[in-house]
Amino acid sequence: MQPSPRSEPPAGVVDLWLRHVRPEEPAGEQLLTPDERERSSRLVNHQARALFVIGRSLLRAALASYLGCAPQSLRLDQRCARCGEQHGKPRLVAPVSELAFNLSHTQGLVALAVCRHRDVGIDVEWRGRADTMPELVHLLLSAVEREALDEVPEARRPAVLLECWVRKEALLKATGEGLSLDLRKVTLPAARNRPAVYRRGDAWWGVRGLDVGPDHVGAVAMRGHVPRLRRRSLAPSPI
Ligand SMILES: CC(C)(COP(=O)(O)OP(=O)(O)OC[C@H]1O[C@@H](n2cnc3c(N)ncnc32)[C@H](O)[C@@H]1OP(=O)(O)O)[C@@H](O)C(=O)NCCC(=O)NCCS
Repeated sequence: MQPSPRSEPPAGVVDLWLRHVRPEEPAGEQLLTPDERERSSRLVNHQARALFVIGRSLLRAALASYLGCAPQSLRLDQRCARCGEQHGKPRLVAPVSELAFNLSHTQGLVALAVCRHRDVGIDVEWRGRADTMPELVHLLLSAVEREALDEVPEARRPAVLLECWVRKEALLKATGEGLSLDLRKVTLPAARNRPAVYRRGDAWWGVRGLDVGPDHVGAVAMRGHVPRLRRRSLAPSPI
């Protein structure tokens, strides 16, 4: 018997699903499709494999809970808009639905954003990464963003850089561009952790930081305007 469907997010709302992951946590593959199991078997690093498996399991269980179907029956497509290969932004092709989603994983955390109709992007990062970020500042930030960062007290810079970074990645994951472009040419000027809208391509995109616990930072972006948030969880958790 399928569970009764849960309510889809209202217009302008992003449902936020978080799954904290323990070190060395075993990850069962029962909700994955054969293709996903094959992809997981190619990941030799235990952590990368666990995050992939738990991410796809969360994605399937969450979407299935809205649609009232079996998690394994959902058909996802990852056709890349640039080259046509299956490595682009995943989207749901069956059953036909208005749901849009995006997934992110980092050491200790998997996060999923789900909304209706609108393109959405999410990024989470482990705070432990902050110390290595300053080395990358010239690759990640535009001149305007670097100037804003220079205004921040030195001790706070790694943390602020990480917050700036997750907002930029969430935006580029919402547009579907990902990190394939020159990141120095993208500016989110009102840096710091305030919700804001940005023009990119032919659209406006709303971006806001997320409270994802003390060990992580996160941000979500949605086409049109800054999303409101609703927290969701699977209870009892099948994954
Ligand atoms: C997508 C991308 C931003 C992920 O960065 P990351 O920091 O490693 O990973 P995150 O954990 O935040 O996100 C990974 C998830 O984003 C989703 N994703 C994949 N491609 C995406 C894209 N283009 N846009 C948005 N989301 C994407 C997937 O669900 C993926 O998780 P999964 O593979 O386990 O399902 C990065 O890998 C990227 O830019 N890829 C595209 C590169 C590209 O376009 N190359 C040109 C090819 S022609």
